[in-house]
Amino acid sequence: MIRIPGALTAVPGAAALALTVLLQMPAPAHAAAAVTPKAPAASAPAASAGWVVPDINKLPDDAWGRTVRYGRDLTVRTASLMGPEVRDPAHRFAGNNLSCQDCHLEAGTKQFGLPYVGVYADFPSYRAREGAVGTIEERIQGCMVRSMNGRRLPPGSREMTAMVAYFKFLSTGRPVGEPTPGRGAGRMPELPRAADPARGKAVYTLRCAVCHGDHGQGRRAGVVGDAQGYAFPPLWGPDSFNDGAGMAHLIGAANFIHANMPVGTSWRAPALTTADAWDVTAYVDAQPRPHMAHRDRDFPNRLEKPVDTPYGPYADDIDPAQHRLGPFQPIRDALKTQKASGATHGNQNRP
Ligand code: HEC
Ligand code: HEC
Repeated sequence: MIRIPGALTAVPGAAALALTVLLQMPAPAHAAAAVTPKAPAASAPAASAGWVVPDINKLPDDAWGRTVRYGRDLTVRTASLMGPEVRDPAHRFAGNNLSCQDCHLEAGTKQFGLPYVGVYADFPSYRAREGAVGTIEERIQGCMVRSMNGRRLPPGSREMTAMVAYFKFLSTGRPVGEPTPGRGAGRMPELPRAADPARGKAVYTLRCAVCHGDHGQGRRAGVVGDAQGYAFPPLWGPDSFNDGAGMAHLIGAANFIHANMPVGTSWRAPALTTADAWDVTAYVDAQPRPHMAHRDRDFPNRLEKPVDTPYGPYADDIDPAQHRLGPFQPIRDALKTQKASGATHGNQNRP
C-alpha cells in the first residue's frame, strides 16, 4: 500500500500532481517497504509541539494584508511573477524558473522543509559566508543570486518589501533571538564513509527520476516560455540552482531530501534510509549546473567555512573530494586542531 501523506492533501498544484504520479508509479515490494512509516530518526527533535503557522486568511484585505499575500505569491509563483520568462524584462529577477517554494516547502510553512517560520526573528545575524552581520534582505538576495541563479532585487522594491513582510508575518509570536525548532532541514546521522554517487545514481533512478526526469530536467507545469514554472523542479542542468547555492552543499541538501523527498514525505517518517539520502544527494550535487562567479570569496574566514562547502579555498589540506562527499568528522577535527593551536583565520592561500 502506498501511504498517502497528509501534506499532499493540504497543498494544491504541484503536490497534487505529484500524488497522481505517485499513485501511477508501479509499487514494487521494496518501494512499498520504503514508504512504510518508521519511527522518526533519533536526531529529529520533537518539533511539532511549538510549531505555529499563523493563518494568512485571517489577515484583512488592507495594505498590510495585501503586501503579506503578495510575499506569499512571490514564494509560490516566483517564475510567474519575477522569473526569466515574465513579459516585462524589468521584472526578470530570477535567472531560472524555480519557485522559492520548490525548496521552502508549502510556502515556507513546513517543519524541516526549510521553512520561513522563525527566520525573521533571527536577523540581522552574523553570516559566515559574508564574514559580516547581514540583514534578512541580504539573505533573500543570497537565494536570488544562488538558488535562483538570478540578480539582486532592487532595495526597496515592491518585491523585496513584500517578501520581508511575509517573513515577518510567518515569525509572528516568535521571540527574537530564540531558536525555532523545525527550522532548517534537520540533522540526520552522518555516514562513517564518503557518500557514494554511483550508488546514489541507482537510488535516483528508482526513487526520483519519475518526477525529476531521467536527466534531472524536471517537468514543466506548461511549456517553455509561458512563465508557469515547473510541476516538478529540475535538480540540475541550465535551469537549476547554481553551484554556489545552499542546495549544492551535501549536508543541508541530504537532510532536506531525507526529510522531504519524495514529495509528501515528512521528517516524521522519512521514505529513504539515511545512506540512500546521502548517496542520492551526492549524485545530484555532482551533476552539471550553472556556475557562480567569485565563489572563492565566500567565507572569508576559512576556519568558519562549512566542512561540506564543495569549493575551495580551504583552511585545511584535506582532499577537496572529502569536502564534497565526507566523511566530515575528520575535517571538523582538523579545523579544531588548527583553532586550538591559535589560528584565527586559517590558511588563506590553499587552492
Ligand atoms: C534550490 C533551492 C532553493 C530555492 C529555489 C530557494 N532557496 Fe532559499 N534557501 C535554500 C537553502 C538550502 C537554504 C539554507 C542554506 C543554509 O544552510 O544556510 C536557504 C535559506 C534561505 C533563507 C534563510 C533561512 C534561514 O533559516 O535562515 C532565506 C531568507 C531564503 N532562503 C529565501 C529564499 C527566497 C526568498 C527564495 C526565492 C526567491 C529562495 N530562498 C529560493 C534553498 C533554496
Ligand atoms: C512524486 C514526485 C517526486 C519524487 C518521486 C521526488 N520529488 Fe523531489 N520534488 C518534487 C516536487 C513537486 C518538488 C517541489 C516542492 C513542492 O512542490 O512541494 C520537489 C523538490 C525537490 C528538491 C528541491 C528543489 C530543487 O529544484 O532542487 C530537491 C533537491 C528534490 N526534490 C530532490 C529529490 C530527490 C533526490 C528525490 C528522490 C529521492 C526526489 N526529489 C523525489 C517531487 C518529487
